[in-house]
Amino acid sequence: MIKNDEVFKTAYRSNLCGLMKIEDSNKKTVLCGWVSKRRDHGKLIFVDLRDFSGTIQLVFDPSFDEGSYESAKEIRTEFTIQIEGIIKPRSKETVNNDIATGKIEVFVNKLNIFSTAKTPPFVLEERESIDESTRLKYRYIDLRTTEMQRNLRLKNKIMSVTRNFFESEGFIEVETPILGKSTPEGARDFLVPSRLNPNKFYALPQSPQLFKQILMFSGFDRIFQLARCFRDEDLRADRQPEFTQIDLEMSFVKQEDVINLIEMLIKDIMAKVLNKKIDTPFKKLTWHEAMSQYGSDKPDTRFELKINDISDIFMDSDVKIFKDTIKNDGVIKCLCVENSDDFSRKDLDQFVDFAKKNGAGGLLWIKIDENLEFQSPVAKFITEEEKAHLISSLSLKAKNLLLIISDSFDISCSILGALRTKIGNKVNLIKEDFFDFLWVYDFPLFEWDAKEKKYKSMHHPFTMPSEETVKFLDEDPLKVKSVSYDIILNGNELGGGSIRINNIDIQTKILRLLNVDLEKAKENFGFFLNAMEYGIPPHGGIALGLDRLAMLLGGLKSIREVIAFPKTQSAFDIMTETPASVGDVQLKELHIKTIDIDTE
Ligand code: AMO
Repeated sequence: MIKNDEVFKTAYRSNLCGLMKIEDSNKKTVLCGWVSKRRDHGKLIFVDLRDFSGTIQLVFDPSFDEGSYESAKEIRTEFTIQIEGIIKPRSKETVNNDIATGKIEVFVNKLNIFSTAKTPPFVLEERESIDESTRLKYRYIDLRTTEMQRNLRLKNKIMSVTRNFFESEGFIEVETPILGKSTPEGARDFLVPSRLNPNKFYALPQSPQLFKQILMFSGFDRIFQLARCFRDEDLRADRQPEFTQIDLEMSFVKQEDVINLIEMLIKDIMAKVLNKKIDTPFKKLTWHEAMSQYGSDKPDTRFELKINDISDIFMDSDVKIFKDTIKNDGVIKCLCVENSDDFSRKDLDQFVDFAKKNGAGGLLWIKIDENLEFQSPVAKFITEEEKAHLISSLSLKAKNLLLIISDSFDISCSILGALRTKIGNKVNLIKEDFFDFLWVYDFPLFEWDAKEKKYKSMHHPFTMPSEETVKFLDEDPLKVKSVSYDIILNGNELGGGSIRINNIDIQTKILRLLNVDLEKAKENFGFFLNAMEYGIPPHGGIALGLDRLAMLLGGLKSIREVIAFPKTQSAFDIMTETPASVGDVQLKELHIKTIDIDTE
């Protein structure tokens, strides 16, 4: 909603198009904007004039003003014009209730054409049906659409509420370098060659992580940033190579302090941006609960359909796959779907293929018939006792469908988690227009990277191990939990943070476990390790993806919809044709010579 006509008064205009009302009838107005539509009715010319606030109908009537009527014949779509005229109420039969100014029109007595326009590559009102690459190429046109104007204003509102919120909570905004050093956030860096330091490179920040921690070491107590971050990673609908984080760090805090603060921020944003009241505290799940019940560390909890563990029932089973799983310390898990009629045999075959493609030996399905008999290729191998046990423990009813995976914990949970999402979408279990915030916490500190055969941080290497599990660092690092927390919204990871290590010995030990060459670590962030030796407070923080938040609050499918000039899936800006080649002189100054290398 745009308010306050007065501030928009300039030497060129007296009002905004979209804010004129029936009460303004018979007043003189001077308006500027773009021609959204022009209709020549012979005796009269109608023009819809658009500025960012909305549109208004102009009438060029030769009996009102001959000169402007004649000039209006030249006007075409997207011309930029200025008009002067008198606001008049429309006759009853011509009122247009679809637009805010539909009860009035402006009879024009002066027309000034600022700028003509070529025929635009697409009609603004038809945006939805236009290929995204065309919209990105002509982004300056696309940004004129009601949708893009709305999206960027929504994002701006989130930013302004956020800034005010942090100000009132005693935070200050401190900028940190964009030309920096590589931070270990897990993605590839974008590098910038240095002209003044031959053969040396800056890295663009993947996040301000180390700098915001150092500001805590320096006694600023609490800082925030709307931080531009850069990550060279494979792109998806919710990922861009450059994006913005609502980033904060606080001193003398524990996990609950950061969590409470973010809940207050989100509450404030939801109230002021969407006029929605949400309840706090948000739901919380440990990482293990999230994985075992929903098969994801960012579960969509807008619908139930939890994953059940049925390993106990098949402890002594004759079914080979169950036997093998139990012997190998695996788990037997299942989804119990309400109505098997929603799924064809082809759907079931696709589920089996999906499971196999994602690393499971297979997937077993069982349909429960009207007599609670099991219809399934494996039915004959399941004993009556096991059947009865399944029926009672899962409260099975006629028509239910069981989808079972018998494999390692990770494989069983992740595949059933993915199927849960597919099924939720297919049978419309997901409540739309509902914002379901959730905390996932108590993550393992490390995960095992089987390909590279080494431990990797689940968050980043500066995350504090929990007090209860730090003792396992030496004997079984995978048992160590971290004091970290992710905030999830409707199945999307909105943000992540942690309490940080504030002890150099633990920090060094963790770097060693991560197989980080300490010499290399010193080279990369020795400054940070040194800083840790000069007295540092307990501290922690979090970063929320601003673009993701704006996308989700706007009900949009891609973060490109809330970024004015985004890149494509291949990190290319179609409008500016970036990245681009540079000349030899510029390269030479940067001490760079390019050669073609096969990177496969
Ligand atoms: P993390 O890497 O989890 O944490 O990032 C925090 C949030 O930033 C958003 N995000 C992205 N958004 C768009 N495009 C991307 N490529 C992209 N990558 C991340 C996500 C994510 O949840 N330094 C830590 C935070 C901390 O510990 O304080 C960090 O950056 O919404």
